[in-house]
Amino acid sequence: MANNNDAWWLLFELLLILNLPYSQAFGGNGNKINTAVFLSPEFVLGPGSVENRFYYNVDFPKGHIALKSFNAEVIDEAGNPVPLHETYLHHWVVARYFVRKGVEISEFDDHAKLNKSDYISGRNSGICQDESVGQFFGLGSETRKTATYIPNPYGIEVGNPAEIPAGFEEQWMLNIHAIDTRGAEDKLGCTECRCDLYNITVDEYGRTLRPDYKGGLLCCYDRTQCKVKQGFKGVRRTLYLRYTVKWVDMDSSVLPVKIYIFDITDTWKRTRSSTGINAEHQCKVEYDIEPCHSTGLADDGCNDNKRISLDMPFGGYLIYGVAHQHSGGTGSALYREDGQVLCSSLPTYGEGEEPGNEAGYIVGMTTCYPQPGGIKISRGETLILESNYSSIKHHTGVMGLFYILVADQVPKPMHTLHTVIQAQDSITLITILWVVVVIIGAVAVIAVVVRHRFKHGGEDGYEAIGI
Ligand SMILES: *[C@@H]1O[C@H](CO)[C@@H](O)[C@H](O)[C@H]1NC(C)=O
Ligand SMILES: *[C@@H]1O[C@H](CO)[C@@H](O)[C@H](O)[C@H]1NC(C)=O
Ligand SMILES: *[C@@H]1O[C@H](CO)[C@@H](O)[C@H](O)[C@H]1NC(C)=O
Repeated sequence: MANNNDAWWLLFELLLILNLPYSQAFGGNGNKINTAVFLSPEFVLGPGSVENRFYYNVDFPKGHIALKSFNAEVIDEAGNPVPLHETYLHHWVVARYFVRKGVEISEFDDHAKLNKSDYISGRNSGICQDESVGQFFGLGSETRKTATYIPNPYGIEVGNPAEIPAGFEEQWMLNIHAIDTRGAEDKLGCTECRCDLYNITVDEYGRTLRPDYKGGLLCCYDRTQCKVKQGFKGVRRTLYLRYTVKWVDMDSSVLPVKIYIFDITDTWKRTRSSTGINAEHQCKVEYDIEPCHSTGLADDGCNDNKRISLDMPFGGYLIYGVAHQHSGGTGSALYREDGQVLCSSLPTYGEGEEPGNEAGYIVGMTTCYPQPGGIKISRGETLILESNYSSIKHHTGVMGLFYILVADQVPKPMHTLHTVIQAQDSITLITILWVVVVIIGAVAVIAVVVRHRFKHGGEDGYEAIGI
């Protein structure tokens, strides 16, 4: 018995030893990865109700840093994850801005009317205009099972004093749009913001909606109410978005990436320069899917296939890619003009009831982690964005966004270990290291057991391996 325990201790120690280089690698050239978990301000939802809140100056890591990942989920007051079939997370968005020192932006300020001399958008590098999809991070129902990790040695650089206008400070806005569908007559309809279910004919600002506007964000703004089954009773609940941010301190070993978000509804014009570099982009963000029985597209397997061409006003190496789609989505991709796939991102639908696996909801999107340097986008190159939806049913307010991270540089070759590490994405790296751990561990166990058996000549030693 004592010797079996020795074997397990040896294995445990090996795990510890092997974890050292592993965590150094994870930290990126020796930089330590920091993790912080924050709670959003609380929001309260009853059956059918909607909250679409813009929280300014939310908790966020400070200093000159490089962001490595951002994950989030809705939880209740006890800290339990709340499933999408109760609280549908339409989207959450994290955006950067610069505010004049001493000025406070209230949650209730109309975000469209902030004083421009006190507030400067710190939007991403993307091509949509007019504050559209300017966020650094943002996902919806898929948030629990979508990888957001940025591989080493890359990161999103923020808090750079050189980029913050004089007299201003950098802050973060968190927008959370959540719909409580407990007791809803039509859960999918509520999540797709169908105007009839919300009994909405004028928008948030009192403007009459176009008669052909059947659904979308204009019908499920803050404090609207979706139709619930008659007599349904449910308590109002206090909820939070719990978000986890990982980052490293910024230094020359971290290569910065830029964020670009493309939108399948982007209507844009080439200007005289004939490239998209100075093009005007109008991103509507939402669109509708007409049912195939009304469009005569049933022969195409009821697949709504939307494609647009976009001229890239930048060049660089693709580091990460992910699409955002709503229920009914069947996949999205970014292609070169010759048809080469740069990144394809497919939805995962849940199959059960528990949070992260809710049947009928998109609970995750696959992501792309190309080999560093493997995919280069040239400045001025035309790419094709594609978004597919099932058109078996009518859908309103769906989205087809594509989020990519692009780096100017590939890592310079360094010591062999780092080169190997950088050549792998972190998931492969973890797998390899664990395989090594398991093999060495198994060898150690066998060695100890064999030694034990050699010393004592017993039969029992072999049983340890089977445990
Ligand atoms: C905006 O801020 C500037 C400077 O702080 C101030 O002079 C101006 O009156 C403000 N404008 C409005 C409309 O509040
Ligand atoms: C729908 O809204 C109209 C006016 O906005 C109101 O008169 C009507 O009672 C509402 N219907 C329901 C079912 O709430
Ligand atoms: C989208 O649908 C088309 C068929 O219309 C198919 O060729 C393509 O592979 C699909 N793309 C994705 C990303 O699933």
